[in-house]
Amino acid sequence: MEQLRGLILSGGKGTRLRPITHTSAKQLVPVANKPVLFYGIEAMAAAGIKEIGIIIAPETGDEIKAVAGDGSQFGVEITYILQDEPLGLAHAVLTAEPFLRDAPFVMYLGDNLLQGGIAELVDAFRANEPEALILLTPVPDPENYGVAELNGHNTVKRLVEKPQEPATDLALVGVYMFTPQIHQAARAIEPSARGELEITDAIQHLVDEGRRVEPHIVSGWWKDTGRLEDMLEANRLILENVEQQIDGELIESQVEGRVIVEAGARLIRSTVRGPAIIGAGATLTDCYVGPYTAIAEGCAIERAEVEHSILLAGSSVCGLDGRMESSLLGRNVAIRRDDRQPRAYRFMVGDNSEIGIL
Ligand code: TTP
Repeated sequence: MEQLRGLILSGGKGTRLRPITHTSAKQLVPVANKPVLFYGIEAMAAAGIKEIGIIIAPETGDEIKAVAGDGSQFGVEITYILQDEPLGLAHAVLTAEPFLRDAPFVMYLGDNLLQGGIAELVDAFRANEPEALILLTPVPDPENYGVAELNGHNTVKRLVEKPQEPATDLALVGVYMFTPQIHQAARAIEPSARGELEITDAIQHLVDEGRRVEPHIVSGWWKDTGRLEDMLEANRLILENVEQQIDGELIESQVEGRVIVEAGARLIRSTVRGPAIIGAGATLTDCYVGPYTAIAEGCAIERAEVEHSILLAGSSVCGLDGRMESSLLGRNVAIRRDDRQPRAYRFMVGDNSEIGIL
C-alpha cells in the first residue's frame, strides 16, 4: 500500500462553541492545557504518519498555522489547505485532493479526541485493505449522530445522518480511513438538506457501488468537543490520566493527588485537589481549585473556588463568594466581585456569552 497520509479537518464554523469561536478556532481550545488539535496530530505521528494536511478556514487559518507550525514540533510535515467555505466534510476531502492525490489516508476531525490513538486502526486498514474503514461507538442518543447499520460484524450496510428513528446505537466517530476511491464518491453525491456534502453520503455511495466498507468498534472513549459540556468532559477524561508533577512554587499551599503545576506558577495559601493542571506563570492566592480544572498560563485566581472548569490564558477570577464550576473562560476574561458591594454585579460580556448565577 502507498504511504498513508493524514488529513485533519480544522475549518468549520464552530457555532456551538460561541462566543469562544468568535475570536479563535475551536480546535485550539485547550484540553488539559493543550490544544485539542494537537491530540489528533500526535495520534497520527504515533501511528507513523509523516505527511499531514490540515484543512483551515479563512477566519481561523492563520491562528492555526501560527500554533501548529510546520509540524516539526511533532516530527511530521504539515501542509495547510484552505477551504473557502465550510461546505461539509466530503467537500473538505475534495478540497484536499491535490494534496492527497492517490494516497490512502486517515481523516481526523480536528475537534475530536480518541482514547488510545489510531495505530491499531491503521494496522487493521493496512492488513484488510478495505475501500474505507469507519470507526463506530455505541451512544445513548444515536439520533444526534451519523448512524451505521452492519451486515454481521464485517461490513457496513447503511449509513444515515442524524436519523429520526435510528436502526442501531452505533454512531460514527470522527476518524475515518479511506482509499482514493472516496474522491469520486464525494464528487458523485449532492449536498444534503443542510447544504453540505456529507461524508456519510460519500461512504454510502461506496457501499452502493459494492465496495467494501469495514466497521471498527472503538474500545476506548471518544469525544467530539464541539459543545461546552463535551469540552469539559474531554478535559476531565484527559486529566484523569495525568501524573503529579510540580515544577512551580508552593507557598503555604498544598496539592492533593494528580496535579501538574507548571514552571513559574505560584500557589500562595491555596489548595489544589487533582486531577488538575495549573499553567506556567499562573498565580493562585487564597483559593481552592478542585478536580477536573485546567488553568492555562498566566491566569490569576484570588479568593475564589474553581472546579471542573477550563480557563484560557490570561484570565482572572477574584473574590467570588461561591464556587465557580463547569465553566469555560476565554482568553483574558476577568471575573471579579467587589467585596464592598456584595449584591451588585457588573458585566462586560461578548455576544452569545452565558452567565449562570445559581
Ligand atoms: P462540525 O463540528 O460538524 O462543524 P462546525 O465546526 O462548523 O461546528 P458547528 O456545528 O458548531 O457550527 O465539524 C467537525 C470538524 O470538521 C471541525 O473540526 C470543523 C471541521 N470542518 C471542516 O474543516 N470543514 C467543513 O466544511 C466542516 C463542516 C467542518
